[in-house]
Amino acid sequence: MSFDPLAILRSRFAQAIGLAVPEHAGADPLIAPGKNPAFGDFQCNAAMSLAKLVGKPPREVAGWIVRHAAPLVGDVAEPLTEASIAGPGFINIKLRTDALADLLNRLDTPTLGIDPPANPPTVVVDLCGVNLAKQMHIGHLRSTVIGDTLARVLERLGARVIRQNHVGDWGLPIAMVTARLMDESSAGRLDLARITLDDLDRAYRAAQRECERDAKGLAAARAWGMGPKALAELEEQVAGAEERYARAQAVLVRLQRHDRDVYAVWQRISDVTMSACLAICARLNARVLPEHSAGESSYAGLLAPLVADLEGRGIAEPSDGALVVRLNDAGIEEPLLVRKRDGGFLYATTDLAAIRHRAGTLGASRIVYCVDARQSLHFRQVFAGAHKAGYDRTPGGEPATLEHAAFGTILGEDGRPFKTRSGENVRLNDVIDEAEQRALAAIEQKNADLPADAKPAVARAVAVAAMRYTDLSGERTKDYVFNYDRMLAFEGDTGPYLLYALVRIRSIFRKATERSIAAPADAPLAVVQPAEKSLALALLRYPQAVRDAGTTLEPHRLCQYLSALAAAFSAFFDACPVLAAPDEPTRASRLRLCRITERVLADGLDVLGIPTLERM
Ligand code: ARG
Repeated sequence: MSFDPLAILRSRFAQAIGLAVPEHAGADPLIAPGKNPAFGDFQCNAAMSLAKLVGKPPREVAGWIVRHAAPLVGDVAEPLTEASIAGPGFINIKLRTDALADLLNRLDTPTLGIDPPANPPTVVVDLCGVNLAKQMHIGHLRSTVIGDTLARVLERLGARVIRQNHVGDWGLPIAMVTARLMDESSAGRLDLARITLDDLDRAYRAAQRECERDAKGLAAARAWGMGPKALAELEEQVAGAEERYARAQAVLVRLQRHDRDVYAVWQRISDVTMSACLAICARLNARVLPEHSAGESSYAGLLAPLVADLEGRGIAEPSDGALVVRLNDAGIEEPLLVRKRDGGFLYATTDLAAIRHRAGTLGASRIVYCVDARQSLHFRQVFAGAHKAGYDRTPGGEPATLEHAAFGTILGEDGRPFKTRSGENVRLNDVIDEAEQRALAAIEQKNADLPADAKPAVARAVAVAAMRYTDLSGERTKDYVFNYDRMLAFEGDTGPYLLYALVRIRSIFRKATERSIAAPADAPLAVVQPAEKSLALALLRYPQAVRDAGTTLEPHRLCQYLSALAAAFSAFFDACPVLAAPDEPTRASRLRLCRITERVLADGLDVLGIPTLERM
């Protein structure tokens, strides 16, 4: 059901065109906001182009459309007549004065017009994707915030969402760091019980350095023409001074057998990494919890049988000692490598097992991967490979929809990937610290009357609003330049501005209470003034804005919507006195408009994962 008059008119006029000009049924009805509000709130501009197609005067075609549309739009528009046709054949449409109020009454329910579907789909959202023994860096802002937001959008639309944090916790690189830690601790240089993620991060890099590149292996990997992720992985996997490499491999074998000593060290690495990771997610208000962890290790036992299945059914074929799935049928040149020559499995093999689990066992009909755009070849290959093997089938037998919600890179002011001065990855924790400090400074400056003990919490919310909104409000696949000042600004298209807009509305209600002014939730609505109408139209677009974000997996649509809503509210507030309205019914109606706006803004911010405030 649509609440938005524009959408309603679009579909009714499309119907009318189908009746008026059947040979051009399906033509775009070209409904647009009216150029001159005195003539109409909307206009239909389709008659001119249709007239050309049928070789008739445009005003005549407009007449046909009007005749067929008139009985269809009576519930929302003033009666359409010949007089509605203007100029060369525009059809002016005036909304009925009660139409907006009626639609708003229908929207103003606990669900705000977004009712759950009768059969909620199961959707997996692959998000966060941290790696063991590594600090979360700036790129994880995106996989976490966009992933969490897409999960929230789909949850809001009623889906049963299963979040999956596909932790990079398995394979040779992890065995390398495990081996190193075991050696360090047995040499007494390290206390595993007190190890921090920083220590792990250092050990990880040291373990990498211990290995010197195996030029031949790398050349072979390049010859496969694989994506950067696979290549990087192979770089790591083929790297290694003989001895360290052999040692790490031995540790990997013991790890795979769940050998007690090795496994305990690995578990420690995992615990330390994950508690740091989950703490960061919490700071970002991202719902990524222990139960969402489904690391690569959880698929380890499934890889050999999966590859055997691929081989047995002839889906994978030998190539140069390795095993590959050819994807030429799917238009992909690069074959999908599922087993290396040395018998090892890969990142991609694990992702095939994950799809099989998510579709087949978890029953997901849609699987969304919130991962860096640089992995797009990997996902195209894995999706095609999974489909070829039938691993994407749900228990009902239908293939799940597999989508890579790819995101661009966060850049520094120099337009290159955001790094520290010394060229290191920027740690996410440091970024959040800085955003919170700056938010606190801004609040100290802007709102001195806020009680001192309330400030830190407000600063945290403002920082989260700033970071999340910035990350979500641009087109997902685009890169963006990270800039604290811009994202923390209280004006403009920012998270803090939206928070502020909400706080302003809430303060109206506080004032009303102070002055004992009632704000009945069912006050009759009178949507009369142009600013009231614009606000009502903006409110009525909310359900569709959330739906669009869910369909396209593009949170920026919801950001744009909320920003437009805040602007419409601000214009309304400037033009239409609320507490000082000319009469009691107008005041009650305007207070109710404020209340609905407050609810929609708060709901929308919650969908974006932005915590709301009473004052700031
Ligand atoms: N750990 C991976 C990386 O750092 C991201 C995981 C993404 N999810 C997946 N199912 N492959 O690149």
